[in-house]
Amino acid sequence: MLFLCVVVTACLGLQVKGEVVSAPDSYDFVISSEAQLSLLKLRETQVNNLQSYKKVLQMHLQKIRRLLKKDLGIEQIGISQKLLTQQPTSVDFEELMGAMRRLQTVYDLDSYAMAEGFIDDKDKNIRNWSADECLILGLMYLFLRNYNQSEHWLQLALVYYENYLSPEELKIKLWNYPNLLESLVEANKGLGRYLEAKKYANELLSINPNHTYMLTQLPKLKYLQSNPPKLAKPKKEFQLQKAICSKRYRRKSGVLVCRYVDWTPFLKLAPLKMEELSMETHISIFYGVLRQKDIDELKNVSRPKLQRIEHLSGNCSCKIGNLSSSSHDVVRKVNELILDITGFPSKGNQMLEVINYGIAGNYNPDDTARPRKQNKANALIFLDNAERGGEIVFPSRHLKVRPRKGSMLVWMNLERSVIYHQCPILKGNMWVANKVLN
Ligand SMILES: *[C@@H]1O[C@H](CO)[C@@H](O)[C@H](O)[C@H]1NC(C)=O
Ligand SMILES: *[C@@H]1O[C@H](CO)[C@@H](O)[C@H](O)[C@H]1NC(C)=O
Ligand SMILES: *[C@@H]1O[C@H](CO)[C@@H](O)[C@H](O)[C@H]1NC(C)=O
Ligand SMILES: *[C@@H]1O[C@H](CO)[C@@H](O)[C@H](O)[C@H]1NC(C)=O
Ligand SMILES: *[C@@H]1O[C@H](CO)[C@@H](O)[C@H](O)[C@H]1NC(C)=O
Ligand SMILES: *[C@@H]1O[C@H](CO)[C@@H](O)[C@H](O)[C@H]1NC(C)=O
Repeated sequence: MLFLCVVVTACLGLQVKGEVVSAPDSYDFVISSEAQLSLLKLRETQVNNLQSYKKVLQMHLQKIRRLLKKDLGIEQIGISQKLLTQQPTSVDFEELMGAMRRLQTVYDLDSYAMAEGFIDDKDKNIRNWSADECLILGLMYLFLRNYNQSEHWLQLALVYYENYLSPEELKIKLWNYPNLLESLVEANKGLGRYLEAKKYANELLSINPNHTYMLTQLPKLKYLQSNPPKLAKPKKEFQLQKAICSKRYRRKSGVLVCRYVDWTPFLKLAPLKMEELSMETHISIFYGVLRQKDIDELKNVSRPKLQRIEHLSGNCSCKIGNLSSSSHDVVRKVNELILDITGFPSKGNQMLEVINYGIAGNYNPDDTARPRKQNKANALIFLDNAERGGEIVFPSRHLKVRPRKGSMLVWMNLERSVIYHQCPILKGNMWVANKVLN
C-alpha cells in the first residue's frame, strides 16, 4: 500500500535543479521506509503538482524527450519553493525506478499483476495504478531499451484509455493519447514489430496530421519492414540476484538439530529454542530472542541515527544507524544478549548496526568483493516479518531463511567470510539489527 502511494508521490512532485538552493540531494524515501512515512504526510499537497513531474522526466530521462519529439504542452503550474524543498528529488526518482526494475526482474513480476494493485488483493487500501503511472513505467523501460516490458506497460495504459472516456475518469495528469501512441510506435519498433508500429503511427497521424516526427517515421517504418535489421538483445540486470532469490531451496532435514540452549546463567533463566541450519558453516537461528517491546524501543532509538551509506562493502538499499552500548539501555541489553548467546567477549564488540530498508530494500553484495578485514562471526536479528521477500540467502550453503521477527541468525566465518544476500522486499517493512563479532 505504502509502496503504491510512494510511487504516486514520486511521480507527481519532483524537485527541479536550480530552483531551490537548500534542498537535500535526496529524501531517501526509496531506501528507507522511515523516510517514506514522513513523505507520505506531504502527499496531499504534492498531488496537484504536475509541472515538476514533467521536468524530472526531462532531466533524468532526457532521451525520452527526443522520443516524444514534441512539447507536451502542459500549462505552467506555480509551485511554492517551500513545497519544492519537501519533495522527492532526482536521486529519489532514479532510485525509485531502480527499485521498480529490481522487483520486476528479480521476481519476474507481470506488469499486469503489478498494475492491478501489486499482487496484493487482500489489502483494501490498494488501488490500481493510473494511466500516468503505467505510461511513465513504459517510458522508463523504453529509455532502457527493454522494449518488451515497455510495451507491456504501454498496453496497460492503452487499456485505461480505452476503458475510460473522460480525463477525470482516467486520472490523467500529464499525458495525452497521442503521447501514448508515440511511445507505442517506439516500443514496437524496438521489438521489430513494424506492422504494429505503423498501425499506431497511422492512428496518431489521423488525430494529428501535422505531427512532423511521425511523418518522418512512417517511411522509415516501411523501409524497416521490408529490410528488418538484427535486433539488439536488451542488457540484463539483477541476474545474480534473480538466480539467488527465485531459486527453490530444499530444507535439509535430518541433519539439523533443534534444541533448547541454556549455556549461560542468563539463558538458564530463559532458555531459547535454537535450530542448526547448516553444520558445515555453523549457521544457526535462535527464536524469540527479542520481545516486541525491545524491538519497538530499539527502532525508536535508532530512528534519529539512520544514515544513508554510500560505500558499504556491498550494495544495500537501506539506511543504517550505528549504536553503541553506552548510548541507550536497550542497545546495551541487546548487545549483552547477543554476546551471552554467542559467547563472544564484550571487548571490541560494542557497536550494533540497525538497518532500515525501503522499497525493494535488499542487500546484494558483489561476490568478488570480499571484505578486507574478516570478522569471526555475524549475528543478525530480524526486527520484522517481511510479508513478501526479504529472505536471507546463503548461496554457498543452498540455504534460504525467512525473516521471523525477534529471531537471531548467527553464522561463523571460518576460513573465509560467508557471503549472504538479502532478497528485495516485495511487501511490508523490514528492519534488522546486525552485529559483527570478533
Ligand atoms: C483494478 O482493475 C481491475 C481490472 O481492471 C478491476 O477488476 C479492479 O476492480 C480494479 N481495482 C480497483 C481498486 O479499482
Ligand atoms: C519479448 O517477449 C517474447 C515473448 O513474450 C519473447 O519471445 C522475446 O524473446 C522477448 N524479447 C526480448 C528482446 O526479450
Ligand atoms: C496542419 O497544417 C495546416 C497548414 O500548416 C493547417 O492548415 C492545418 O489546420 C493543420 N492541421 C491541424 C490538425 O493542426
Ligand atoms: C516508540 O515511540 C513511539 C512514538 O514516539 C511511542 O509511542 C512508543 O511508546 C515508543 N515505544 C517504546 C517501546 O519505546
Ligand atoms: C559502525 O561502527 C563500526 C565500529 O566502530 C564500524 O566499523 C562500522 O563501519 C560502522 N558502520 C557504519 C554504518 O557506520
Ligand atoms: C553493486 O551492484 C552492482 C550491480 O548490481 C555491481 O556491479 C557492483 O559490483 C556491486 N557493488 C558491490 C560493492 O558489491
